[in-house]
Amino acid sequence: MYDIRKLSEDTIYLGCSDRRLKLFESAYPIPNGISYNSYLIKDEKTALFDTVDKACSSQFFENLEAALDGRELDYLIVQHMEPDHCALMEDVVSIYPDVKIVCSTKTVALIKQFFNFSPEENVIVVKDGDTLSLGKHELAFYMAPMVHWPEVMVTYDKTDKVLYSADAFGSFGAINGNLTDEGLCFNCSYLSEARRYYTNIVGKYGPQVQMLLKKISALDVKSIYPLHGLIIKNNIAKFIEKYDKWSRYEAEEKSVLIAYSSVYGDTENAANILGGKLADRGVKGIKIYDVSQIHPSYILSEAFKFSHIVFATTTYNNGIFETMEILLHNIAAHNLQNRKVVLIQNGSWAPTCGGAMKNILESIKGTEILDESICIKSSLKEEQLAELDNVAEKIVNSLNVLI
Ligand code: FEO
Repeated sequence: MYDIRKLSEDTIYLGCSDRRLKLFESAYPIPNGISYNSYLIKDEKTALFDTVDKACSSQFFENLEAALDGRELDYLIVQHMEPDHCALMEDVVSIYPDVKIVCSTKTVALIKQFFNFSPEENVIVVKDGDTLSLGKHELAFYMAPMVHWPEVMVTYDKTDKVLYSADAFGSFGAINGNLTDEGLCFNCSYLSEARRYYTNIVGKYGPQVQMLLKKISALDVKSIYPLHGLIIKNNIAKFIEKYDKWSRYEAEEKSVLIAYSSVYGDTENAANILGGKLADRGVKGIKIYDVSQIHPSYILSEAFKFSHIVFATTTYNNGIFETMEILLHNIAAHNLQNRKVVLIQNGSWAPTCGGAMKNILESIKGTEILDESICIKSSLKEEQLAELDNVAEKIVNSLNVLI
């Protein structure tokens, strides 16, 4: 049965949710599922904004047929060529052979790479600021390269003041009946997965996100229609403020994230004691994560949030314990900058992980190492408590400078 939702007089939601997929992009756990959003405007002309992942193929085509209700499809607006959004475009073209594909120049090349048809005859290539009239609705296109792929563009419907934002302003999580953020506690129930989505999917491309935010700032946006997650109506300013912070790699919380790996509990012991010492000195909101238990996508997201990060780990095979090494490479790969860090190493006979961690972190712009002096030899000793006090003092002093 079709499952479509009316969003306005002539706009329809025809996306779908997947709650079976374990790892989005074969990389990110999605315990609450994921939505693939697609929208249709029915004006004098009809325009479909993107398709969905092939997992939802049959539902999508039932939805599209019901939404068109006997009308032809005039335009397929392709904002992003990642297959979770474009997978069904070849089928759309074969069902509606007269449809015009509206897209950026780079999209044309990607269509040829992903599919076995040549879009030239059916394509309308648009550039930054180009417009398209559907009748009552006037659309304007804005290029958003690397948010999240190079061909990405977003679309502004001047009539309804809707920003079709492609991957920007999306979130992990399936649609649970409610399609919009109205009546939702944005900070307490939506922000953490929206942050995890942003930081892991787009986090590397801060300067490009800044360029998009600049373009958006000139528009009067009343609703944001992303390709994943809820339609945003009530929290637009708040979400844009977060995007601005994340894309400038500015911390949201002046507090401490402690990330540790521990084979037999001794490094964990040091992490917990340091957490307590920070708390005793008045630091609020500390978070401690075992990087072997928590998927790096969650810790990366927290790393974008916190101003200070302690990395405590064990030497393993003459290097960094594997789960910590993965996290550090993730942080470096996502370009997280300007964090103040402390390194704690453990090594029973040849501790080397401190230097190896430092090598990775020093490759990241703006990283300041506050302390790297603590070296646990197998287990923490009484006399090392003073060293932890010293590290706690350094962190608190550094936090006070920020506050
Ligand atoms: Fe949801 Fe970059 O695709």
